[in-house]
Amino acid sequence: MYEYLTLISGRAHPTLAQEIADYLGIPLGRVALGNFPDGEISFQVNHNIRGRDVFLIQPTGPPVNDNLMELLIMIDACVRASAERITAVIPYFGYARQDRKDAGRVPITSKLVANLIVKAGANRVLTMDLHAAQIQGFFDIPVDHLYAAPILDDYFLSLGMDSDEIVIVSPDEGSIKRALQHVHRLGGRLAIVDKRRSSATETKQANLIGGPLDGKTALIFDDMISTGGSIVGAVQVARRHGARKIYVGATHPVLCGPAPSRLQEAGICEVVVANTLPLRPEQRIPNLRVVSVAPLLGEAIRRIHRNESVSNLFEN
Ligand code: R5P
Repeated sequence: MYEYLTLISGRAHPTLAQEIADYLGIPLGRVALGNFPDGEISFQVNHNIRGRDVFLIQPTGPPVNDNLMELLIMIDACVRASAERITAVIPYFGYARQDRKDAGRVPITSKLVANLIVKAGANRVLTMDLHAAQIQGFFDIPVDHLYAAPILDDYFLSLGMDSDEIVIVSPDEGSIKRALQHVHRLGGRLAIVDKRRSSATETKQANLIGGPLDGKTALIFDDMISTGGSIVGAVQVARRHGARKIYVGATHPVLCGPAPSRLQEAGICEVVVANTLPLRPEQRIPNLRVVSVAPLLGEAIRRIHRNESVSNLFEN
């Protein structure tokens, strides 16, 4: 059925790659991945991929530069091995937040990364919840952009919450559109936290547009949790404005630095994230729940391979 399909995993997230392979019912390609004594990455595909439709699975999360370089090296190897088509499957696209010049003399690193991936020889990209959807346009090759929100929402729906009792809270103005889609699926009404960023690691949140939340259950959604500053700030605002229970949903659990302890101590009922990135033991806090996007990615790969429409996966 998938005679010409080859799935190859980098070292960034082999568990997710295996789940995708299980969904498709095919084995992962056999590769040798390692490091030379000086740290340079070594890579070899241990079987013929000439003329094959190759999907390279590699989220570019921490260590971002190593995972990105490994992806580029894997693409190069597949080009030189005469693969027919190479799709970079990047469930989490690192550097996405550097997507514009927001100060003098700064780079647009997400455009640079897109250039590198295209230049290395990728023919397509399959990714998920880009920090800004416009990043698709940084690639001069087709990009299929999936959303984890319906999967997060299915989990919240399974909790049987009364839609009259919930308020969907956008943690900043940039997330309003995403929050409205959650309102559409989960019901409830919208509230927006007024977030001001003072530096890459510091944010200030105080006001809530659409409050008070007296006795309601607040569901706060973001695309990623990095240091946890944005989400925990939003949690505090929701609580100050009267939320009785607070849940958090986010696609990408970057969870760096103080994030795990911040999330554990913020009094959040549950933090629901997708498995776009692997979790280290110290990131597996008791109130964290992980939902799998492997079936969605697997189905998208199946459809891309067969030249079927992927767009209804965006919607459903
Ligand atoms: C910002 O616009 C993003 O959507 C996230 O809210 C932010 O990048 C998360 O970072 P942190 O967890 O460090 O606040």
